[in-house]
Amino acid sequence: MNKSTAKKPWGGRFTEPTNKLVEAFTESISFDSRLYKQDIQGSIAHSKMLAKIGVISDDEATSIEQGLLSILEQIRVGDFQWSTELEDVHMNIEARLTDAIGEAGKKLHTGRSRNDQVATDVRLYMREAVDDIVDLTLQLQESLLTVAAKEVNTIMPGFTHLQVAQPISLAHHLLAWNEMFERDIERLLDARKRINVMPLGSAALAGTSFALDRDMTCELLGFDRPSRNSLDAVSDRDFLIEVSAACSLIMMHLSRMCEEIILWASESYKFIEIGDAFCTGSSIMPQKKNPDIAEIVRGKSARVIGNLQALLVLMKSQPLAYNRDNQEDKEPIFDTVDTVARSLQVFSAMVPSISFKRETMYHAALKGYATATDLAEYLVRLQVPFRDAHEIVGNTVHYAIEQKKPLAELSLEELQSFGAMIQQDVYEVLSLEGSVKARSHFGGTAPVRVKEAIAAANERLAKLR
Ligand code: ARG
Repeated sequence: MNKSTAKKPWGGRFTEPTNKLVEAFTESISFDSRLYKQDIQGSIAHSKMLAKIGVISDDEATSIEQGLLSILEQIRVGDFQWSTELEDVHMNIEARLTDAIGEAGKKLHTGRSRNDQVATDVRLYMREAVDDIVDLTLQLQESLLTVAAKEVNTIMPGFTHLQVAQPISLAHHLLAWNEMFERDIERLLDARKRINVMPLGSAALAGTSFALDRDMTCELLGFDRPSRNSLDAVSDRDFLIEVSAACSLIMMHLSRMCEEIILWASESYKFIEIGDAFCTGSSIMPQKKNPDIAEIVRGKSARVIGNLQALLVLMKSQPLAYNRDNQEDKEPIFDTVDTVARSLQVFSAMVPSISFKRETMYHAALKGYATATDLAEYLVRLQVPFRDAHEIVGNTVHYAIEQKKPLAELSLEELQSFGAMIQQDVYEVLSLEGSVKARSHFGGTAPVRVKEAIAAANERLAKLR
């Protein structure tokens, strides 16, 4: 028998060696070796359970556990040779175990298939990955809330259509970003419930004739419950799609934030300066300092969103139960996890390096007639119907533009020529401070409310920590 065929745990019914091209094409060890920790964790739990139900002896289970722990160590220190001939992480580890401990190693795979094994490994992996991403998102929230606390009274223009709309507190803007990430965490934690279900015991697709104690393995591995249907359990990858969708939303949110940071750092806005340590230069233009981190994160959102698409298309049309197509789930999901984690990390580090140019922001808010709505609302309080008030203020703004003056610099006489009822107290609402302060309902941008909102956000954050 050919050496390469003999080595394969499934080699028994084959008489020809695997074509080398096929071997290279079907292997997954080049990327699924990453699951070694989870694979060993799952195998130890499985062998303990096999001993408990009397399928293997206690001594065998002990020797399996010791063998696996020593393999774990070898992999950790880089002293493990992965073999493509052994296809994937599961067969590599199992073969090494048998080399090391002999007969007992051959019993480990009793009542199990790589189909429930890989589904279990990936779930264990994703559970950890989700916890890490939640943690990193919380760190970013912390950075945002720390900056927000310093910028409650900083006034900047709020935009719609990227046109100056109304003055707002900069902290209010930062809190809007915070809201996005808070929703992202909720989504991840919700997805985690459906990740934390144990497929082990489903075997290839139909379960096994051994009376497995699935509750025991479930508890050993920290799953909430065993899966209810063996066919579904080996084929379901919804949980990867959910996490991938939640990660796409994180990247979409980061990308929106990037876009604003890039604009704000530009020569035309000059709202912020990003710390030198978080920018890069140009090889030809000596004066340049570019917001590359924000640009790269914005760019990386593309691959994470692409990975979501890949996973959806991967699963679409797959008949029950397990199909080898599923091997294609790993690279996109690993890439998504890595990309999101690295983007969040670098962002949390960059945010505190940003200095806000308060004066520039204030002056930008003065331009663009940002308090026009306040003037209209002032008129409404004097019993002018809103539509009429809108018209009066529209005319006033038109006039002010011609005069090249902000609204607050028009004289009372000038203002009264558009609305006779306007009095001296109008200047209070025409100021940026007055406008911001007036939006004092729950959810509004008034400094008192923003302070409360920061405190409340910090409290919610502390609960998740
Ligand atoms: N490497 C496979 C995967 O990632 C797991 C092995 C299942 N293989 C099989 N022939 N049933 O899905």
